[in-house]
Amino acid sequence: MTFSCQHKVLNRSLYNEMYRASLLNPEDFWREHGKRIDWIKPYTKVKDCSFDQDNFKIRWFEDGTLNASSNCLDRHLETHGDKTAFIFERDEPGYSTHITYKQLHSQVCRFANSLKSLGAKKGDRVVLYMPLIPEAVVGMLACARLGLIHSVVFGGFSPEALASRLEDCEARFLITADEGLRGGRKIALKENADKALSLMTSSCLEKVIVVANTGIGVSWNQGRDVYYEEIIANMSDICDPVEMAAEDPLFILYTSGSTGKPKGVLHTTGGYLVYASMTHEYVFDVQEDDVYWCTADVGWITGHSYVVYGPLANGATSVIYEGVPNYPDYGRFWDIIDTHQVNLFYTAPTAIRSLMKHGDAFVTKYNRSSLRILGSVGEPINVEAWQWYYDVVGNKNCPIMDTWWQTETGGILITPLATGEPQKPGCATQPFFGIQVALYKPDGTRVEGEGTGALVIEESWPGQMRGIFGDSKRFIEAYFSAYPGVYFSGDGARRDEDGEVWITGRMDDVLNVSGHRIGTAEVESALDSHPKVVESAVVDFPHPVKGQGVYAYVTLKEGESSDNVSEEDLRAIVKQQIGSFAKPEIIHWAPNLPKTRSGKIMRRILRKIAAFKESEIGDTSTLSNPESVIELIHSRPHQKI
Ligand code: WT7
Repeated sequence: MTFSCQHKVLNRSLYNEMYRASLLNPEDFWREHGKRIDWIKPYTKVKDCSFDQDNFKIRWFEDGTLNASSNCLDRHLETHGDKTAFIFERDEPGYSTHITYKQLHSQVCRFANSLKSLGAKKGDRVVLYMPLIPEAVVGMLACARLGLIHSVVFGGFSPEALASRLEDCEARFLITADEGLRGGRKIALKENADKALSLMTSSCLEKVIVVANTGIGVSWNQGRDVYYEEIIANMSDICDPVEMAAEDPLFILYTSGSTGKPKGVLHTTGGYLVYASMTHEYVFDVQEDDVYWCTADVGWITGHSYVVYGPLANGATSVIYEGVPNYPDYGRFWDIIDTHQVNLFYTAPTAIRSLMKHGDAFVTKYNRSSLRILGSVGEPINVEAWQWYYDVVGNKNCPIMDTWWQTETGGILITPLATGEPQKPGCATQPFFGIQVALYKPDGTRVEGEGTGALVIEESWPGQMRGIFGDSKRFIEAYFSAYPGVYFSGDGARRDEDGEVWITGRMDDVLNVSGHRIGTAEVESALDSHPKVVESAVVDFPHPVKGQGVYAYVTLKEGESSDNVSEEDLRAIVKQQIGSFAKPEIIHWAPNLPKTRSGKIMRRILRKIAAFKESEIGDTSTLSNPESVIELIHSRPHQKI
């Protein structure tokens, strides 16, 4: 591998030195580290960023040009062409294939040529709605090769959710598969895609490219639908990469916010790739012969940065696994780790908790001695889960990288590093190089030393999102207006006596259910669309496996009662408009929701009731209907967990 810094294990003094240098002189630091990827035309400008509302700009390596797919493929061919890029493990145990850098390159070129022959040109949007199979990665890289902007929509989203994303980004192409397979269960992707397209009122969509994954026959729209296998069959495997400016868009990824529709988070090419590859190398201490496995789906940012772009830019060998952790049994992850001798393993707390429940024997049955570093991502990791991950999975032998970041940040911002020091379970620890973390009080002043506050980043970093697709004003409003002049993450955090950072969770109306980010406003709008519902309020409640569960307070229209509206109807509407993963676990019929005199629903109180923390509700006398609080406490439909 072409590492700019050959370290086995970063030690504390090296970290301190590099971190200090990265803040003291970001221009010099990133001028140097930007060279870790290949540029067609090298940059002379490094950083041109301002978070000031009047002069807002985020530009990195602005006059450099490059191509992300050739950084992930072509530049490894000479020395690492026969190295395995991906070990693909199928849903069904016992079937895995190795794909070398040469083979991946050839597939990407052939598919890029196919897209070209279908008329795709630089700047077009291409949506992928795919299972986690190699063709998903091929699709993303083929887009990157031609300067097409990909937008991957997680295969668990419903047809309606897919339709609204296709419409929002005005996609010309959709890449999907006949079916996905998860734990032996079939996911009807093509059927969902057909439904999505039939729901769209305006459509620029021209072609649907279908990968024959299970090979089942699917309904076909002649002229619109084409099989992936057919269109690549006679294509050349030579395809020149398109020269892209550093700030040309690489992809859009939709994510939920506290209000309104999902936001199309836009990432650009140069800075994103530098940041994804650098964090991947340093956080996981990736070495030449390591086998690395990040279990994320390509439908989320973790899949973009730490399954596709980071590892491939670094020439690493990664496992990708089509299925779920509990198929055929709860030992599947550890089986895969032994089979492929995985050294670096990166997963989500929800997966750890769901496996932990079933006891140690499923883990200890396997050897796992190949493991060197463990990672955690997507949600806070509770102490019990951390300890089990460390003691049982890692045999007290592997440090845990509890990585904090977001779709918006492009890569990991706060994380421990493998410095060999003792770790604190559940502590996100310290900022990555160049990341200027601060905690702000509600009045906008900084918390110095120990304390808690809103987690903000004071200076730009190369992997930062550049905007919301099609809505430039919303970007500044959503992230730079609560605390003018700095990026507000939406999370809160605490700094401890050693200066290390603990994430305390979202401060806004965003839920994190099994690591899936869900906007309460989106779930409410789905519930409110039911003809018998007047209004609803969605909050989180503590869930032992999912971290948070969805809890919906629902007010029915006058004359209606829970006798003629079923909870299942309401869940079905959420499934239809968003996806199964957003269905409310608990529905609480609420004839009255606690409101302020100006009519604002008091979600803070609703959250306390859902969590059985009514003793913390405090004074309710200023509400317009204080009696509603008692009513709801008495009508709680669930038991304390
Ligand atoms: C939100 C971002 C990070 C990529 C996958 C999720 C929460 C993420 C941690 C962590 C505590 C975490 C935050 C953040 N989160 N990682 N290590 N500890 N919380 O990306 O869907 O954009 O969600 O996930 O609340 O804001 P995302």
